[in-house]
Amino acid sequence: MEKNTIRDVSAPGKRVLVRVDFNVPLDDAGKITDDRRIRESLPTLNTLLDNGAAVVAMSHLGRPKGKVVESLRLRPVGELLAALLGRPVDILPDCVGDLVSARVAALSPGGVALLENLRFHPEEEKNDPAFAMRLASLGDLYVNDAFGTAHRAHASTEGVAHYLPAVAGLLMEKEVRYLSRMLEAPDRPFVAVLGGKKVSDKIGVIRNLLGLANTVLIGGGMAYTFLRAKGYEIGASLLEAEKLDLAKELLEEAQKGGVQFLIPTDVVVADKVAEDARTRVVPANAIPEGMIGLDIGPATSAEYGHVIRSAGMVVWNGPMGVFELSPFAGGTRAVAEALTACRGTTIVGGGDSAAAIEQMGFAERIDHISTGGGASLEFMEGQQLPGISVLADK
Ligand code: 3PG
Repeated sequence: MEKNTIRDVSAPGKRVLVRVDFNVPLDDAGKITDDRRIRESLPTLNTLLDNGAAVVAMSHLGRPKGKVVESLRLRPVGELLAALLGRPVDILPDCVGDLVSARVAALSPGGVALLENLRFHPEEEKNDPAFAMRLASLGDLYVNDAFGTAHRAHASTEGVAHYLPAVAGLLMEKEVRYLSRMLEAPDRPFVAVLGGKKVSDKIGVIRNLLGLANTVLIGGGMAYTFLRAKGYEIGASLLEAEKLDLAKELLEEAQKGGVQFLIPTDVVVADKVAEDARTRVVPANAIPEGMIGLDIGPATSAEYGHVIRSAGMVVWNGPMGVFELSPFAGGTRAVAEALTACRGTTIVGGGDSAAAIEQMGFAERIDHISTGGGASLEFMEGQQLPGISVLADK
């Protein structure tokens, strides 16, 4: 990574302002349902604390749109953080202001404070310079470890870096190392598995990966637009009609570039999207009228599994079907299992596929599961992320 990291700076005695991405999913009762992002921040936080720094951690949670939303307070996150760090965390009632400044000033080396949800202030998302300066006044050094929010140019991810020495944390470094290796020097054969609902969400990624991958495997809701583009009947499956021409173009581009571009050969269909739906496996080129394609079929799973197992590097982004419902989870499970059996480097690109692999219990057998959803997509599109660009170059 061409950016300085916490390894390149001296931390002892400093107050270090660390932007983390603690935007974790919560259930209706406000309980954290997936703590990966918090766990993944521990190497950076522990390294700083063990080196005698005091840490001021800051994050957003959800989209409160510049107002205080009680259900989006960071207290549950702070309590879990304290338990994981094994040290007390001073959970502050705001992210700026006199009281916050005083409590931060009172931190001793090894002490930790967590600021309140940054997005309770509209200035955060506006990247307001005065607000960024107020945040900067809380530290001697700024560390960005929030890869998941690095695609946002907000006060805490971009603005603040103009007022303090700014370096990357260890999670940021790890994310960039894996994802850059994939874009710059992937081990071959390099296989990209792309799923998810819509072609429109993945156009940039498909385009960029068509120039890099040896094989692209398509699944999920977006597969049906490709099947239709080939002239097949897709019944009542999801179709982005306005993206049909684009799907045709991408199929042609793949062919011209010598990329093996595979779309499903069989699919699991049902007449409703429900746990008790009655399913059938049908050829992907003849989905009966009124039936909805909701997962890749067993022949496709077997073929994709074979390609994935023999890859030198695999990146997976987006589920193969509606995996939240058991009748349509088979394809996603097959892909996840194949990744665990691949001897090459395996990368899961955030969002739903990260949730799926975690839920299926395979997370420990994957080389890298990105903590970024939108951020990893933009990175895979080949875009520069503002929260990374602004950090000090090596
Ligand atoms: C994410 O979960 O993708 C990040 O935390 C960014 O959140 P946002 O999409 O609300 O900016």
